[in-house]
Amino acid sequence: MNKVLTSLLSLGVAASAALAADAVTAVKVANVADAAAWSKAKFSSVMLYPQTAIEFNDKKANEANEAPKAKKAEVGALYDGKNIALMVKWADGTKDAQSGYVSTLYPDGFAVQFAGATKKAQPLPYIGMGSDGRPVVVHLQKATEKVYEPNGNKDVGTQLNRQQTGVFGKELADYDAKVASLANTDYERVFVGEGFRSLTEVKDNSIQSNAAMTYGTNGWSGTLIRPLKDGYVNLGGTVPVSIAVWDGSKMGRNGLKNLSSWVAINFEGQKANGAVIAELADSKGNAAKGKEALAANGCNGCHQVEATDPKSVMAPSLKNVGGYSTAAYLRESLVKPSAVVVPGYNRNAHSNTPWYNLEKGKRVSTMTDYSSLDKQTLEDIVAYLKTLKAEVE
Ligand code: HEC
Repeated sequence: MNKVLTSLLSLGVAASAALAADAVTAVKVANVADAAAWSKAKFSSVMLYPQTAIEFNDKKANEANEAPKAKKAEVGALYDGKNIALMVKWADGTKDAQSGYVSTLYPDGFAVQFAGATKKAQPLPYIGMGSDGRPVVVHLQKATEKVYEPNGNKDVGTQLNRQQTGVFGKELADYDAKVASLANTDYERVFVGEGFRSLTEVKDNSIQSNAAMTYGTNGWSGTLIRPLKDGYVNLGGTVPVSIAVWDGSKMGRNGLKNLSSWVAINFEGQKANGAVIAELADSKGNAAKGKEALAANGCNGCHQVEATDPKSVMAPSLKNVGGYSTAAYLRESLVKPSAVVVPGYNRNAHSNTPWYNLEKGKRVSTMTDYSSLDKQTLEDIVAYLKTLKAEVE
């Protein structure tokens, strides 16, 4: 009896450990742009972890995010013959929308990141906006109020504020009417890049996307519709995506956000892509042994590992790395530290402890190469790294 119970229990553990990371099902519909089609969607939970690799250079913002929590988003997907549509719903107690009048306000927002199509099969791009040779396409939507944009360049920050018009009464009313007629209520951008520094905005309409955000009683709902295929991606089968959200009330912007790891979107009725599934697979290592191995190999000398460990300027913090990284990425970090060099070299870092050196124009990581560790130890460390993540809000 006892024996049966234990083996059942260990089966249970094995089953949950083998469960792939978050996954979303894309349901086939006649037309993704038809709002009624969303009644067919199947929503799945996707965890979004605070991006904490790099200490943000803003004291106030850091104080507002002292002990950041993970957020749970509900994500649904639809596809038709031409397009994919994604809906992301997440809780946010305050609506922070950008308006032309207030420059100190940070808007809420969300982004969907796709791995760009490459000629040769590649490991997945770095989660923080791609890496050398591994491009990404990022769709970004920020919440906006009506903003005055007479030049249509979407550079609201440089436009004239109401308070600066110097007019009153009817003239001011005329001004307001003109603002309303010229107002651009959207802040939607698409970027392509191979790493944070190489991000470029796509402005030539070669990506025909449409994103929007609506605020309701439970928080935000964001939608994105984009083609299944264009010059940047070719979506079908199993598609890895990553979701990010920004909370304006916590001064979120740029790298100060919550983001998911790569998540599989499985296209219902299509053949799964084994290579993508393999890249998203969890580690089968032993996390408890990995914790010991990590200590024995001096990782703590450079990294903040757990949230309770002292901060370090020598290397990125690993305290949430398990939340937004795949096991495959963590494995690669150990055996090929320079394959992906974490971007945004910390400006606070001491000049004696750079994160990388430039060698013939290439960034070479200063991290120790651990490829000589035996496979099991490496896998145990990866399993432990996967456990490093903030609790869910
Ligand atoms: C000599 C200092 C040093 C040591 C020791 C070290 N690292 Fe690193 N590590 C770095 C630096 C610097 C980076 C950032 C540059 C890069 O991406 O390689 C980094 C990056 C990483 C990343 C990627 C982080 C991210 O946010 O994507 C992981 C994971 C990692 N290290 C894990 C480890 C583990 C596990 C050990 C011990 C087995 C270890 N490191 C030992 C310096 C170190």
